[in-house]
Amino acid sequence: MPLTHTKDLFAKALKGKYALGAFNVNNMELLQAIIEACEEEKAPVMLQISKGARQYANPVYLKKLIEAAVSLSNIPIAVHLDHGDSFELCKECIDEGFTSVMIDGSHLPFDKNVEICRRVVEYAHKHNCVVEGELGELVGAQFDEGEEGGGYSAGGHYTHPEEAVKFVKMTGVDSLAVAIGNSHGAYKFKGEQHLDLERLKNIKKALMDAGMGDYPLVLHGASSVPKELAQEINKYGGKLGEDTAGVPEADIEVARRVGCTKVNIDTDLRLAFTAGVRKVLSENPKEFDPRKYLTAARAKVKELVRHKIKDVLCCAGHAFD
Ligand code: G3H
Ligand code: 13P
Ligand code: ZN
Repeated sequence: MPLTHTKDLFAKALKGKYALGAFNVNNMELLQAIIEACEEEKAPVMLQISKGARQYANPVYLKKLIEAAVSLSNIPIAVHLDHGDSFELCKECIDEGFTSVMIDGSHLPFDKNVEICRRVVEYAHKHNCVVEGELGELVGAQFDEGEEGGGYSAGGHYTHPEEAVKFVKMTGVDSLAVAIGNSHGAYKFKGEQHLDLERLKNIKKALMDAGMGDYPLVLHGASSVPKELAQEINKYGGKLGEDTAGVPEADIEVARRVGCTKVNIDTDLRLAFTAGVRKVLSENPKEFDPRKYLTAARAKVKELVRHKIKDVLCCAGHAFD
């Protein structure tokens, strides 16, 4: 079975009102865990490759691993470049057959962000590839104190609905990553904080009102950073801070219902993987067979992915719609 195109996955997800899990892949065990969970739960999936993953594993190894996953499973699988930081990197991935790429110009001034997105869109669309842009800057909500829910992306960090419309029209990007208080990593918030879901609703509505239809939005930084995983890592010798914090899963569920079609999760996979490795090595200090601790890591990641696709993203059961 070949790769499934990102645009087909988006169309079905929008119709079925579920979100696609976009899980980061860096090695074989992560990939196997994701695919096995999605296969057993009959879920479509987006595999994301970052620039760092390409540097770590080598693009050819990753490509061949994904080819193996595609040939051994029967679920729809799309492959996406996560946080592409240049036209050249996006072009490389498009030429390699990725079904979508992200060009992340979110740190650039609006006009420069538009410019680089347009350049990538022009090349990508000629080669049947979908492009994700990002407007607004992902920073933890902790940095936005005093901004009453965050500033506009022109002068602050959050995505502004009218700017989002302008950005999509000017660039032609096929999906948009938004900044609504989300951030990457395991230390997202100080204390309990929430995404600005009202803003998300307004962005979706503004795009709809501007004639963009049910436009796919993307949520980065969607790890929930489960306390039990952080505790398990620390129990077996880790030293994560007390202040790990992620997005409450209830917020992700609302984001899905409001219209986030692609939900990016990486940190939670890393935590699960690390917890699995640490437990085996700590309980069996004489162990030195990587298969032993990597088997545990893979099982832990699989359990986590299964939970996300079933209970949070609701894409389980939709592989063959
Ligand atoms: O958003 C970033 C992803 O978690 C990928 O991280 O660049 O360390 O591979 P990375
Ligand atoms: P997390 O760090 O919350 O997993 O976010 C991952 C992500 O956004 C990848 O692009
Ligand atoms: Zn991201």
